[in-house]
Amino acid sequence: MLTAPLFAGMDEESSRALIDSMKVLDAARGDVLFHEGEPGDRLFLVRDGKIKLGRRSNDGRENLLAVLGPGEMFGELSLFDPGPRTATATVVADAVVLELGHRDLVTWLADKPKVAEHLLQALARRLRRTNEALADLVFSDVPGRVAKALLDLSTRFGQQVDEGIRVAHDLTQEELAQLVGASRETVNKALADFAARGWVRREGRAVVLLDVDRLERRAR
Ligand code: CMP
Repeated sequence: MLTAPLFAGMDEESSRALIDSMKVLDAARGDVLFHEGEPGDRLFLVRDGKIKLGRRSNDGRENLLAVLGPGEMFGELSLFDPGPRTATATVVADAVVLELGHRDLVTWLADKPKVAEHLLQALARRLRRTNEALADLVFSDVPGRVAKALLDLSTRFGQQVDEGIRVAHDLTQEELAQLVGASRETVNKALADFAARGWVRREGRAVVLLDVDRLERRAR
């Protein structure tokens, strides 16, 4: 059973019925589910895989707002505040996503105030995270932001291994830099420094967090 804020206020029968009414979509790395600026008429729920939400500046640079994993939803802003998509959703690791038309969701919400409450809670959590990321951009240095991004990714994609926590983020160095909001070179330097100190070990598109305490202190 999928655990997600969307289903948190529902009994099993209702959530099963809602899932059954959703369209299942298999998507491969690189697939774009929607583009920033397009009109949006549905929200998505991640069942498997990873989705990045990114924005592009006028001069072509990219910034990642978030990388989402199983149980998380996206595409709801254009429902609550009708308007164009605020970001582009791209598959980072082969994914299965469930689609729910905004109109269908509105029908469900009218019937189930508890569900609306949980959705608001998920939105509030997202706003908190965004505020924190904004403050970090202003107040923290790049290594601090890299440490924080790794810890944040670990809460979603981390797996306990003997030496620590293995985080298979599936992001390229460029994508990791876009998530941190710094150049690839600076982010690389921070990661190399963490590795030299024995805090992390890099493994392609994964990183093993060897010393979470130190990383947490660096992220503060
Ligand atoms: P929507 O605007 O419909 O399409 C883009 C989606 O990206 C948006 O809905 C949200 O679901 C998601 N999104 C936008 N901003 C953020 C953010 N700061 N953190 C996480 N997800 C976001």
